[in-house]
Formats: sequence, C-alpha cells, structure tokens
Amino acid sequence: MKRMPGKVALVTGAASEQGLGYAIAATLAEQGANVVVTDIDYARLEKSASGIGEPDQVAHIRQDVGDQTDWDAALALTLDRFGRLDVLVNNAGISQMRPMDVVQEDEFDRVIRINLKSVFLGSRMAMAQMRRQGSGGSIINMSSVAGIVGFVGTPAYTASKGGVRMMSKTIALEGAADGIRCNSLHPGVMWTEMQQVTIDSSPGTFEATRDLIPMRKLGTAQDIANAALFLASDESQYVTGTEIIVDGGLTAQ
Ligand SMILES: NC(=O)c1ccc[n+]([C@@H]2O[C@H](COP(=O)([O-])OP(=O)(O)OC[C@H]3O[C@@H](n4cnc5c(N)ncnc54)[C@H](O)[C@@H]3O)[C@@H](O)[C@H]2O)c1
Repeated sequence: MKRMPGKVALVTGAASEQGLGYAIAATLAEQGANVVVTDIDYARLEKSASGIGEPDQVAHIRQDVGDQTDWDAALALTLDRFGRLDVLVNNAGISQMRPMDVVQEDEFDRVIRINLKSVFLGSRMAMAQMRRQGSGGSIINMSSVAGIVGFVGTPAYTASKGGVRMMSKTIALEGAADGIRCNSLHPGVMWTEMQQVTIDSSPGTFEATRDLIPMRKLGTAQDIANAALFLASDESQYVTGTEIIVDGGLTAQ
C-alpha cells in the first residue's frame, strides 16, 4: 500500500539529482503523491523533473525561494495542476564557509534570505492555503545539525538553520488547532553537491569529516527522504513542533 495516496506536495530546491530535494520529491511521488518541484536553476530542474514519478504526477516551475512573487506563482501552479496543497517541503538552501572575521554584511544577508526568509514566506503561504482547505497539512523545514550545535566558520548558516528550527516550532503552535503540523529535519553530513564542495576544498577533509561521525560514514539523500516521508505522511499525524536529526550520531557526542 502506498503511503501518500491523493496527497499533493511542493518541494523546493529539487534540481540536483544528487540532492536532498530531488530524493524527497522522488520518494513522495513513488508513494503516490502528486508533486510540484521548484528550483532557481530552471534548466537543470526541467531535466531532473522528468526523472520523478509519472509525467502526470509531476509539475515544475522556476522559483527563487526568497521572492514572494515566485511563491505566488508556485502555489498557483500547484492549485492549477493538482487542486490542493497538503505538504510543503522547504528544502532549498545554500551553505557558506565564511568565519566571523571575514563574512561581509551582504554575504550574511544572502544566506538569511535564501535559508530563513524563504521558510517564512513558504510556510505563511502554505498555512493560509491549508486553512482554506480545512483539512490540515504538513510543513517540513530543512534545518541542519548546524541548527542544533555551533560550527566554526559558518555564522550565517548556523543562524539561518537555528532560525528555521525555532520558527518551525512557532508555526507548529500556530497551526496546531487547524491540524497543520510543522517539523524540522536536521541532516548531518550527507553525500550531495553541497557537501562535495566542502569536502573537495582541501585534502584530508573527507577523512576528517568521516572520523567525526560515530557511524564512520556519510549519510545518503535517501536517509533524509525516508525521514521526510514519515513527516509528510499521516503516520506522523501526532508529531508536530519537533525535530528529526539524521546524522549518524554526530550531535549525540
Ligand atoms: N547535504 C548536507 O549534508 C546537508 C546537511 C545539512 C543540511 N542540508 C540542507 O539541506 C538542503 C538541501 O541541501 P543539498 O545538500 O541537497 O544541497 P544542493 O546544493 O545539492 O541543493 C540545493 C538546491 O537549492 C537550489 N537553490 C539555491 N538557491 C535557491 C533559491 N534562491 N531558490 C530556489 N532554489 C535555490 C540549488 O539550485 C540546488 O538545486 C539545504 O537547505 C541544506 O542547507 C544539507
């Protein structure tokens, strides 16, 4: 039996076939959901969207998640194609290795806009739509282990991901009476392009990173997709305002 029959999900940042957004969208579609995928990189999204589900199950649109007009367009497409919105996965994000003594104000603002303001805009829109529908919904916000503990060199990223974690709890409280659930997901070190860039930055980074993880291996995009599927489906109907950490034990130490 499929776990997402009849549900409609919107997943941001899904253009990279190696990325978390793509794995989440593909997994939700496999489990019977209709899915709208978005990304700022339209050329890439157009190609990758064709690998998700059946053609009539998937729609795609270019979206800058920091832009309200683009959110309006993404919702309009979702309603036009599938008539409703049950699940929003705020996944799009960027990383930044710029320690406190070098990071510039505009660089800090950029991370906050793409990683945090985006979650505000998307969640606000989804809550309003879910309230109009009257049957609740699930909002899943991509945070990070960097939203749980600090990391040297990433003040803007940790600020954005910590903000996502706490805003998710507020959204959960405000949405609870209407059956709108909201939870944050906290990946550790997963094999995606975002991580590849960090790992390729200097020799020995891969080994040093791996050795910090109690399970002594990086996670996969599918590990995150499996957790997202649980939060998206009715199996988690009593789960709201909490976080799921998927990190091989990294933050348990
Ligand atoms: N990979 C990891 O180890 C890891 C760990 C913790 C958290 N995360 C978080 O998971 C999410 C996905 O990460 P990933 O590793 O799949 O990254 P990725 O770089 O592979 O994918 C991110 C996608 O977001 C898109 N994007 C960037 N800016 C955008 C914008 N303004 N509007 C719309 N789309 C935009 C990119 O084009 C890209 O396709 C991010 O929020 C990231 O912070 C990842």
